[in-house]
Amino acid sequence: MAKKTIRDLDVTGKTVLVRVDFNVPMDDGKITDDNRIRQAIPTINALLEKNAKIVLFSHLGRIKEEADKEGKSLKPIAEDLSEKLARPIKFVPYTKGVELETAVASLQVGDVMMFENTRFEDIDGNKESKNDPELGKYWASLGDVFVNDAFGTAHRSHASNVGIAGNIDEVAAGLLLEKEIKFIGGAVENPKRPFYAILGGLKVSDKIGVIENLLDKADKVLIGGGMSYTFLKAQGYEVGTSVVEDDKLDLAKRLLEKGKDKLVLADDFKVTKEFSNDGPIRVANRDDIKADEMGLDIGPQTLDKFQDMLKEAKTVVWNGPLGVFEFENFAKGTLGILETLTNLKDTTTILGGGDSAAAAISLGYEDAITHISTGGGASLEYLEGKALPGIEIIDET
Ligand code: 3PG
Repeated sequence: MAKKTIRDLDVTGKTVLVRVDFNVPMDDGKITDDNRIRQAIPTINALLEKNAKIVLFSHLGRIKEEADKEGKSLKPIAEDLSEKLARPIKFVPYTKGVELETAVASLQVGDVMMFENTRFEDIDGNKESKNDPELGKYWASLGDVFVNDAFGTAHRSHASNVGIAGNIDEVAAGLLLEKEIKFIGGAVENPKRPFYAILGGLKVSDKIGVIENLLDKADKVLIGGGMSYTFLKAQGYEVGTSVVEDDKLDLAKRLLEKGKDKLVLADDFKVTKEFSNDGPIRVANRDDIKADEMGLDIGPQTLDKFQDMLKEAKTVVWNGPLGVFEFENFAKGTLGILETLTNLKDTTTILGGGDSAAAAISLGYEDAITHISTGGGASLEYLEGKALPGIEIIDET
């Protein structure tokens, strides 16, 4: 059975509660990455076309005490969205109470409003994050239908997703959540083959479940980035001062054993002596890293090998950069793979959230990738094959 989406809803004249994930990076009140906001727009527009009254809400940051509220209001985000939608958005600076209820009650068809950071409710006993039954029930009482479009929060079981869903008649996925299910869920459950995964990033420990699951599901798992050196050390190679998780060497050995030739490691690396863009750089084979050197990128031979393998892929999932791409001299591996992915025809290319997704967007590759996930932790847990509470709550059609 398929999950119900907003396409299946008749919301004419109804108040639709839309959980979005506007937990976006901010610097001094300014949004520094608006991807999650842009990705929510198709759902909002589709609901407007269906003559709904829209109530948007999200969390922003983690709030434990009053002082944490500083800089965590959703007001600047409401203003940004209002500009993007080219229509006014009424912002209510409360998470409950008469002002909120009155604002919701006075909505007309075609109105969009947003209320304050749901995690402001965490100050008083973690009501949002612990899914306080009364809070979910209260928020549910504000609307007729619940639309969850917050994929980034789908791995959480909070009052503003699971709590509401348990107290309202109809629960559907927004278009973003639908897309995430289609691409990430589709890749993990029913990929077109060959299905290749590329995993990078600093630590093996962040991605144990993902590596395990993808070793079961993918045809090849290509490993780059900082986690390479833990695998290399587990194989007995000198890794110099490269980043290593010494307490994960046994785990790495087990994954190497499980993966056999499915797990493809880098053969060469770009190494240097300081964590800097500017030191002398050389290319070292995996058995030639010196005690005072650190690897900061995959080498040219590995990039060639990975690019060659990817040419035959029909599905590619990538999570985590292959080197320290913030340093120009160590960005070649990440950029080279991005370039290859954008040139693949008839291949579904999917980027898990986090650094590799942000890099792809900031480097201008957004339109060339089939799907760039808006989830960080959520996309990792989804790639691990876990059932996500924020998806489980959606009605079946
Ligand atoms: C995220 O950015 O990963 C999501 O918005 C979830 O945020 P959280 O880790 O604070 O629950």
